[in-house]
Amino acid sequence: MTSHERGLSQPPFTRLRRCFVPGERAGHQVTTAHFQAVYPAVAEAGLGSEGVYIGRDMHGGSFVYDPWLLYARGVLNDANTLVIGRPDFGKSSLSKTWLLRSRLFGRRGEIVDLKGEYEPLVRALGGTVIRLTPGGGTRLNPLTRIGRRELRENLLEAIAKAMLNRPLSQAEAIGLTAALEAADLASDGAEVSIPDVIEQLRHPTAQLADRLGVSPHSAQEELREVALALQRLCQGPLRGMFDGPTTAGEDVFDSPVISLDLSEITDGVAAVNLPIAIAMVCAVAFLDAKRVERADRAQRLGYEVEKTIRINDEAWRALPIAGLGDYYQAAFKLSRKTGVQHWLVLHRISDLRAAGDEGSRQQRLAEGLLADASTTIIYRQHAQELPLSTEALGLSETERDLIGSLEQGVALWRVGGRSFEVRHLLSDLEWELIDTDQAMGSRAPLGFA
Ligand SMILES: Nc1ncnc2c1ncn2[C@@H]1O[C@H](COP(=O)(O)OP(=O)(O)O)[C@@H](O)[C@H]1O
Ligand SMILES: [Mg+2]
Repeated sequence: MTSHERGLSQPPFTRLRRCFVPGERAGHQVTTAHFQAVYPAVAEAGLGSEGVYIGRDMHGGSFVYDPWLLYARGVLNDANTLVIGRPDFGKSSLSKTWLLRSRLFGRRGEIVDLKGEYEPLVRALGGTVIRLTPGGGTRLNPLTRIGRRELRENLLEAIAKAMLNRPLSQAEAIGLTAALEAADLASDGAEVSIPDVIEQLRHPTAQLADRLGVSPHSAQEELREVALALQRLCQGPLRGMFDGPTTAGEDVFDSPVISLDLSEITDGVAAVNLPIAIAMVCAVAFLDAKRVERADRAQRLGYEVEKTIRINDEAWRALPIAGLGDYYQAAFKLSRKTGVQHWLVLHRISDLRAAGDEGSRQQRLAEGLLADASTTIIYRQHAQELPLSTEALGLSETERDLIGSLEQGVALWRVGGRSFEVRHLLSDLEWELIDTDQAMGSRAPLGFA
């Protein structure tokens, strides 16, 4: 595609510079008030001039965005962002340039990359790519001790529920937490990983059984299924990835941009794929653990923690799975404390509302995620998705029509209840780094060890 076709007509350098000089607004011929009267709800004054340049507000000005700044100004309740849209309308392109441009403001980046499409960008930013392959050389321990017990407990519970494909019984929920505690105690300070927890579930101590109010033998019976479910994580398509101490060197995680490439995990072609989803959640848990560690260190040494952008492209694969969506929601809730922007990429709102026997729970989850993401960026939606999107996002009729007909690269940004129609603009250099969909398909493995 040529620059001209992308709607850009200036030489690359001019455009690149423009990307980083936010704030200019072309003069309108009418006032904003006039605009709003004619075209309600999608004609607002911008979000100010400070922030990362995104592109052009369709009403003439530059559009800049910085969720932390807007949070500080009281415009947003949180920094989290949902990017929603049909495939091929520009979600990943935006996600990549958002990270690239934010690096200039000193933001860190963490990416869970299901398609292996972020690598050129990450390398250009001097970051690190960790590629996970079944039985491969790199292992990440999602149970790395992070000082926040609830995250590890949430993770175990999320994985167990997802593997069992049902909610946990009371005994299983208590047993899992108790087994993690017992494994920590037994490890004498060494790193605990999932097989250690399985061991505790399979051979419950008298103390653990006491927590359940039954004999060790009965405890073993009650916990058998959950032990087997976790056991499956150590076999099949996920074997060797999350089931032992971390093998990648510690310094890797101090990299300003780190991407966990999960593109080698392929098991079947189902849209919602359990191994991929579990790998995503384990990867996310691991990154959370590392970030909390960094934040604690920063606090100890008295410097400010850098803000982090966490991009979960293709997050729709994990969210509908019992347990995994809840895990995301818990992470969303913590983001204010930990300086993270969760940036989730989905196809449609209904990705958050999977049907099934957990329908109402999923609906609460969807509402929770939407409530904890003050920014929603909506690319083109299928006609049948329009009623749900309109209702869930509280869109006007005009906006509803708009999201059904948006062209590539243009999105409706809902920022703390305000709406902007924005064309995302990229420089030629950026296109080179991010438009990698085809090129990446045939890439040789990195062989990271
Ligand atoms: N801002 C944009 N302006 C023009 N075309 C774009 C823009 N963003 C993306 N595209 C086009 O759309 C294609 C798909 O973009 P991508 O970001 O991979 O979509 P998605 O992640 O939504 O599937 C790109 O290869 C590019 O040709
Ligand atoms: Mg994409």
